[in-house]
Amino acid sequence: MNLVVVSNRVSRGKPNEPMTGGLAAALLPVVEKTGAIWVGSSGRVRDGNHKEPFAEVEALGAGALAMLDLPAAHYGGYYEGFANSALWPAMHSRADLIRASHEDYTSYREVNAFMARALLRFRKPDSVFWIQDYHFLALGAELRDLGVTQPIGFFLHTPWPARAVIAGVPNHRELIEAMLSYDLIGFQTDEDCENFLSYVQNDLEFEVRDGVINSSFGRTRAAVFPIGIDPDKFAQQATKAMTHPDVTRLRRSLNGEKLAIGVDRLDYSKGLVNRIKAFDKMWSLHPNLRRSVSLLQIATPSRGAIEAYGNLASEVAKLVTDVNGVHGEVDWTPIRYLNKGFGQGVLAGLYRTAQVGVVTPLQDGMNLVAKEYVAAQNPADPGVLVLSKFAGAANELDAALLVNPHDIDGMARTLATALAMPLTERRMRWEAMMEKLNSGTIQQWFADFIEALQDTHSAGNAALPE
Ligand code: G6P
Repeated sequence: MNLVVVSNRVSRGKPNEPMTGGLAAALLPVVEKTGAIWVGSSGRVRDGNHKEPFAEVEALGAGALAMLDLPAAHYGGYYEGFANSALWPAMHSRADLIRASHEDYTSYREVNAFMARALLRFRKPDSVFWIQDYHFLALGAELRDLGVTQPIGFFLHTPWPARAVIAGVPNHRELIEAMLSYDLIGFQTDEDCENFLSYVQNDLEFEVRDGVINSSFGRTRAAVFPIGIDPDKFAQQATKAMTHPDVTRLRRSLNGEKLAIGVDRLDYSKGLVNRIKAFDKMWSLHPNLRRSVSLLQIATPSRGAIEAYGNLASEVAKLVTDVNGVHGEVDWTPIRYLNKGFGQGVLAGLYRTAQVGVVTPLQDGMNLVAKEYVAAQNPADPGVLVLSKFAGAANELDAALLVNPHDIDGMARTLATALAMPLTERRMRWEAMMEKLNSGTIQQWFADFIEALQDTHSAGNAALPE
């Protein structure tokens, strides 16, 4: 098998490269170990006639990385436009934030078609294509139009929303019909998969039986593959990271004070405003926790050219300033707020230093920070995970303290409970969560998806008329 993995964002696997989003972090070990070729955007654009796509190819472990310059005329409409101002808000059930012009949709389709042409260069007779995330919903259909008959799978890293929300996306019908060119479509949770199938059944009126859609576009299976991490590798990284200068400086600065940590992209789906309000409430309700616990919030800037992201950045910055102004002391800052990215080699140590990991998105496909926080803990004295019930990870990590991120008072109370939790209970919860992480690793995710893709493709071919 010659695996070709496609995603918009890629990672070059450099030791201190800041990781933006869970997708690139998750795919990196898969490509490094399996010898796949990983094709994505170089982050640069190129003018002119793109008959011959320009790709920079370099080795990545046993595999390779091909970074493409995307067409200049369509990049903005594709990335900032349709992908991140129509699909992303819709996938996270924020229909109120959907903004997209018809030109954006055209650009999105153009970039999908461009990527399909570029992939032909990497096609071999035994190729298997695995397309990632909402940037490339129509890529399978474009590949089929170019005559590709090999297995093509798709995995969605975000949630899939209710029918009424996806119907707010311009051209939703055409786009979801295009998805039916995939052999297999993978989702993070049962709910995502059910929402998708409900649209296909009720709006497209295709027959669905046991997760298999029989349509005029072929046969497509939809199934659930919750993404995982490599817990052993992350635990090793965490132990090693304790001597990293950033981690030692952080520990020294704490002076016996407890630490809660949040690590997110600066994105409205992550619930940052509610989280900071919950800490504000906690310090108001429990003055004894002032000085004795602070929050380190890393909020890595992302998609800054989009208005909703700019507005969020200003709102969070103001809120942090207000809360620090109210609760701070001459020698104590309640919230340490950083707008930059860190490599996993540092993050793992920051997680291990913190007694509480706070992962409270309003909606999230999986959220690998939750899993990484757990894997990074010291088994003899583990920290506590406070996790939103609206993150995909909550399905597996039900031994975390689960919260409703819309309930600020409830979150404030849960944070105080987490900070006071006795060692025996911390250990019990941590062990239960580690069991889940060890049974659903990233390697298992990869193997399960590829096996199901190959089976579905063969079954689909067997079902074709002679
Ligand atoms: C989420 C998406 C990924 C994306 C990442 C970072 O995790 O599911 O597809 O790569 O965010 O977003 P960015 O727009 O900065 O690549």
